[in-house]
Amino acid sequence: MKTEVLVTGGAGYIGSHTCKALAESGYGPIAYDNLSVGHEKDVKWGRVINGDLVDAGLLLSTLKEFRPEAVLHLAGSGYVGESLRDPDKYFQNNVVATANLLRSMRIIGVDKIIFSSSCSTYGVPNTVPITSSHPQNPISPYGLSKLMAEQIIKEFGKAYGIRYSILRYFNAAGADPEGELSEAHDPEYHLIPLAMDSAFGRRGPIEVFGTDYPTPDGTCVRDYIHVSDLAAANVRALERLRSGTLAEIRNLGTGDGTSVLEVTQAVGRLTGRKVPLIFHNRRAGDPPILVAERLDEPLRFGTIEDILETLIFKDPRG
Ligand code: UFG
Repeated sequence: MKTEVLVTGGAGYIGSHTCKALAESGYGPIAYDNLSVGHEKDVKWGRVINGDLVDAGLLLSTLKEFRPEAVLHLAGSGYVGESLRDPDKYFQNNVVATANLLRSMRIIGVDKIIFSSSCSTYGVPNTVPITSSHPQNPISPYGLSKLMAEQIIKEFGKAYGIRYSILRYFNAAGADPEGELSEAHDPEYHLIPLAMDSAFGRRGPIEVFGTDYPTPDGTCVRDYIHVSDLAAANVRALERLRSGTLAEIRNLGTGDGTSVLEVTQAVGRLTGRKVPLIFHNRRAGDPPILVAERLDEPLRFGTIEDILETLIFKDPRG
């Protein structure tokens, strides 16, 4: 019998890659996803329950039926800009949903959670690279919602003995190197897939949001980490909780920063096509620089070029 784990958001971009990594490590993933942004076709490793985290009845019956060893909680909303326009959605999908999940876990007796948090919880960092003990002062409702979810998890840890691993993702990028999954959001807001589309003429120029940041070339610097490395880090976190870790908080980043201009140049080099640019004002809610202290775990994709190659591999014309 495989050890089963519930993966909320298991049909989404990071969730589906995580289900693959779990299955490859011998676990039985069960995706729990309302399919609002996830794709049923991406649930290839284990089954999918079409459900919402606000549906306490379905959540309880699912946990009761499968009695998973742990929950990997990846469901939620993840756009900084949207959170400024519609904070209500972020407090519902990221805070209320997490509280519901924890309550159901407590009722059924599931005592381990691995939570997908975000570097957006730090806000504008005082020092870079960012360590997991850096103060958290989010500047967007998205970052705040992830911080509130972290705090709720910690209280469940203290009061009810829920074991937890809080993983603060930096910028997820790339796609499954075997080509079984892709990076597809609808609508697409993320820089790398947009830059790929611009290079191949599938859309117009990239709007560079801000050229006057206090960074070497004036554009925002981010720490792009491959989605399969994030998935592998989730499996390792599960294994640590299973072998006795009670609570941990980690940043998931590569330790390398890449600016918006450097991303577009790297896409240009690898595709052999120019990425057209338009210079635009800053986008609200964007800190100038978010780079993690390097993860003390092996990374399969160490550079931005390694990450981009997993996307080029998949372009039918690439
Ligand atoms: N950018 C542009 N033009 C675009 C799109 C993005 O200049 O058309 C810039 C952004 O301003 C930002 C950088 O490229 O500086 C990366 O932007 P993304 O939209 O790709 O990613 P974000 O950093 O905004 O957000 C992502 C996830 C969040 C996560 C965050 C961590 O969506 O869930 O990374 O930094 F929290």
